Amino acid sequence: MTATIYGLGVGPGDPELITVKALRHLRAAPVVAYPAPEQGASFARAIVARWLVPAQIELVIRVPMESARFPAEAVYDRAGDEILGHVAAGRDVAVLCQGDPFFYGSFMYLFARLAERGHVEVVPGVSSLTACAAAARWPLAARNDALMVLPASLADDELARRIAAAESVALIKLGRHFARVRDLLANLGLAGDARYIERATTASERVLPLDAVDAAAVPYFSMILLHRRGSAAR
Ligand SMILES: C[S@@+](CC[C@H](N)C(=O)[O-])C[C@H]1O[C@@H](n2cnc3c(N)ncnc32)[C@H](O)[C@@H]1O
Repeated sequence: MTATIYGLGVGPGDPELITVKALRHLRAAPVVAYPAPEQGASFARAIVARWLVPAQIELVIRVPMESARFPAEAVYDRAGDEILGHVAAGRDVAVLCQGDPFFYGSFMYLFARLAERGHVEVVPGVSSLTACAAAARWPLAARNDALMVLPASLADDELARRIAAAESVALIKLGRHFARVRDLLANLGLAGDARYIERATTASERVLPLDAVDAAAVPYFSMILLHRRGSAAR
């Protein structure tokens, strides 16, 4: 029987927010692969550390943070080949993905390389979007509300245009873009309708109004949820 590559959503941070299915595949796989920064620990691995089995082979995929695609492309090419090597030897491989694999998840880059060369199963996970809504105690959207997810790296005019088209907005990948996005929302008269959520579901989770956030200390794992007054979910 051919071995399987599992793309496992491991949730937003709380180790208990992994699905029963992902946990079953994680613990049964002889090989566990996960992305990590060039230096430092993998968040996805940290989330499931308590569930790992000592005999498992670990394959760390060190992804450069440069915005240029090329170095990361080469890393994913190499990781894909390594994963296929384990599959050829009959070993299932569990690939960890923080949150959900197909919601801005790194697993999609491996999926693009592996889906036609091996048997790949994707197990969805709890995404940061729903985790942040729960942390902020703000329902995301209701009835005819349009929900928009926007990377904070988009230009101001693009953000403003898209924000105007939705009742509910999630601004993700904040980090160094926080101050610019906060000022844009203030200029649009929407700052009071927004909440900042940092490291949702972890021990260091924080939920703050925008004017209480230190822009110099905003981590990558943060987002702004915006609920226009009068939207059905408010
Ligand atoms: C590359 S995307 C990955 C999303 C992930 N696959 C998911 O399903 O949530 C990374 C962005 O998701 C958001 N994010 C992920 N985890 C988060 C958390 N625990 N708390 C707040 N935001 C989070 C942040 O905006 C971060 O910049």
